[in-house]
Amino acid sequence: MLQIRKATKSDKKPILDFCQSPYSGVDYIADVWDFWLKDGTFLAMEHKGKPIGVCHASFSKNQVWIEGLRINPKFRQKGYGSSLVLRAEQIAKRKHYKISRMIIYNENKKSIRLAKSLGYTIEDKWYLYNLKPKRQQSLAVVASSPRQIENLIDSNTYSKSWKWFAFDKSAVSKLIKKRKTLVFIKNKKALAVGIWNDSKLDNDVLQIGYLNGSKVGMKNILYHMQNKGYLQNSKRIQILAQQKIKLQMKDLDKRMLFCLMKKVL
Ligand SMILES: CC(C)(COP(=O)(O)OP(=O)(O)OC[C@H]1O[C@@H](n2cnc3c(N)ncnc32)[C@H](O)[C@@H]1OP(=O)(O)O)[C@@H](O)C(=O)NCCC(=O)NCCS
Repeated sequence: MLQIRKATKSDKKPILDFCQSPYSGVDYIADVWDFWLKDGTFLAMEHKGKPIGVCHASFSKNQVWIEGLRINPKFRQKGYGSSLVLRAEQIAKRKHYKISRMIIYNENKKSIRLAKSLGYTIEDKWYLYNLKPKRQQSLAVVASSPRQIENLIDSNTYSKSWKWFAFDKSAVSKLIKKRKTLVFIKNKKALAVGIWNDSKLDNDVLQIGYLNGSKVGMKNILYHMQNKGYLQNSKRIQILAQQKIKLQMKDLDKRMLFCLMKKVL
């Protein structure tokens, strides 16, 4: 009567019919559905032949990233959401992944409770800000070596297209090589760092997935991104920065707080 299986193309409509974004407005699941069918593991829960819930897991290095957990409201509070997460974890464990992470809107208390009941803890809290592209002058430059920024990294993770990844030495080297790391340097010393990327979900959005350093330095990194956005005609710049990072700048729109949840498998 009840089974967990791989999601299919034809599950899309019945699932989207009950999906509302847990954050606001339209659910992003519609846009990622086709990609999720090909990427990682996309699970569906079936009840009497009909899909009543989904959950996606993607794998990177040492981690499984769990996202897009949705259960039809008529079938909630029965442990189905938990079962889908546990199945994703089981698959990850079989593949020898050691860490599971997910991001949950801070006000989504139900989901946070669900994650905690499965053994997840809040690893960190991250704020989302929006910033409009604008012609700007900036003193930030592209970083040239991991040594420049190692003292400015004060987080286990950085984010990229709404996924968080381990911020270890190899990640830092890759980000430097890909020229995704910006620094603000004064007297030969880096005073601020920012990691950026193009959004995978939305072509017209630029993102900052990590930011730290002096106020002036971070502002210059944001100016750099505003100008980049202006030059490439982006709609907006999304910034994800840890709650402890005090960001203040004209035009910066502070939006929502998210909990990064972690479990050692
Ligand atoms: C969050 C969500 C996936 C939870 O799904 P769910 O199937 O209701 O989750 P579960 O049943 O596993 O757990 C929810 C509650 O049911 C309880 N429960 C579990 N098994 C139960 C059972 N057999 N009988 C009664 N209650 C049960 C759990 O203890 C939990 O209670 P609590 O919230 O009071 O702690 C669902 O509410 C949803 O789709 N929300 C909208 C989308 C969303 O927010 N997604 C998460 C984004 S990160």
